Order: sequence, then structure tokens, then C-alpha cells
Amino acid sequence: MSIVSRGYGVLHGCLQHGLMRVPARKEIAYFGSAVNHHISRTFPVGEIITTDLARVRSLNLLAREVIERNVTGEIAELGVYRGDFARRISFLFPDRKFYLFDTFEGFDVRDLASESEQDLHTNFGNFSRVNVRTVLSKIPHPLQCIVKSGYFPESLDGLEENFSFVSIDTDLYKPTYEGLCYFYPRLSPGGYIMVHDYAPSRYQGVKKAVRQFSDEYKIPYTPLSDMNGSVVFGK
Ligand SMILES: C[S@@+](CC[C@H](N)C(=O)[O-])C[C@H]1O[C@@H](n2cnc3c(N)ncnc32)[C@H](O)[C@@H]1O
Repeated sequence: MSIVSRGYGVLHGCLQHGLMRVPARKEIAYFGSAVNHHISRTFPVGEIITTDLARVRSLNLLAREVIERNVTGEIAELGVYRGDFARRISFLFPDRKFYLFDTFEGFDVRDLASESEQDLHTNFGNFSRVNVRTVLSKIPHPLQCIVKSGYFPESLDGLEENFSFVSIDTDLYKPTYEGLCYFYPRLSPGGYIMVHDYAPSRYQGVKKAVRQFSDEYKIPYTPLSDMNGSVVFGK
């Protein structure tokens, strides 16, 4: 292996794990599109690098597809927590309604019971006590946001909408499965659902939900090489 390719390998590994600060301008070089230029200008230098760069790049690319191909429909995230991924989504879709689904009080006992009944060994994070106002204060286009606070799917409350991009990031089997069952039929042709945390063994419920949904409805998905292995369902 040459010194150059070894150096590239180390740099790539560091970027994947958020260990190295590089100027945000690098992002423009990688993507060279208006969408990514917009992101690069808006986020402070280095911030993109401190999170999962591959996840953010995948989001950028999917958003670009939706926008450039004029895929109609609104946007949603199920599992918002403090809004760190949501604000990136909002930057990319400034003109669409953006539904934010979360209990904003962490996991629900019904989902936790389902997890243990199925003997899923999930590493539960503590996502309690989130202030919705603080979340909205981070979001670049808060007037586009519709906060659906409460237990999903109850929080849907009869919502009928078409979607062009959805992020599902709940860490658990039940809301992931129910999220796919709700959003996929309402996804416009050309739209995408991105499900986070498919790969790690500490989120067994997510993998189970994704595979079950895919098998039951014969809908394929594509795994991504971001840190926690997201998957994408397209239509
Ligand atoms: C990993 S966090 C989301 C992180 C966020 N997407 C990000 O990347 O910054 C998971 C969130 O899913 C929410 N959640 C899990 N199950 C839920 C359910 N059934 N209904 C609503 N929210 C749920 C939790 O409250 C928690 O805030």
C-alpha cells in the first residue's frame, strides 16, 4: 500500500468517527451542489465533522434527489429528541411542511415491554425531558414545523398526508415497525424513508422491524455505511 493510499485510509477513518476537524469547504468539494453548498455555508466549520458524516452526506444526497426530481409531499421525522438531525432536514427542505414526532419524554413503557417480550437486547438511551421550545429554536424554518408530541402512533391523530422524505430514528422495534407501516403507503413515488440504527447489535429491535416490514410487504431496502448503519426504503 502506498503512503498516499494509507494516508487517505487514515483520513477517511477519522472522518467517519468524527475525530478530525476539516474546513467545511471540503464538503463543497465532495458534493459540488447547491444543496450541499447551502449546508456548508450554514453550519459552523467543523460541526458537520463532529457528527456522523456519512449519515449527513446520505441525507444530503436523498434530499437533492427529492428536490431536483420534484417529488411532491411533506417531510417527517419520527424520533426527534433534541432536533440535531431534524435541523439538518429542515435546512434542506425549507419550503415543505415538517412533522416532528416524539414523546419528548423518552421511551414509552408499551414499547419497552414489547422489546423485552421479544427478548430484544436493546441498549436504552435516556431521551427524557426534552424542551420542545429549545428544539424549535434550533430549527432553521420553525414556521414550517408541526410538532406531533406524544406516543406514536397515537400522536398521528388521524393525520392524512403525503410524504417525500421521512427519517425514522426511535431505537425500538414497535415504533420503527409502525412508522414504516404508516409512512410507506403515504410516500410519493421517488420519495425515501431513512431508518437509523439498523446495524448495531445494541438496537436489535430496529433490525427486526425493518426486516419484518420488508419481508411482509416485499419492499426492498438498502443498507448504508454510516456509523450505525442506516437503511433506506425508496419508492
Ligand atoms: C435516538 S433518539 C432520536 C435522535 C434524533 N433523530 C437525532 O438524530 O438527533 C430517539 C427518540 O425516539 C423517541 N421515541 C421512541 N419511541 C417513540 C414513540 N413510540 N413515540 C414517539 N417518540 C418515540 C424518543 O423519545 C427519543 O427522543
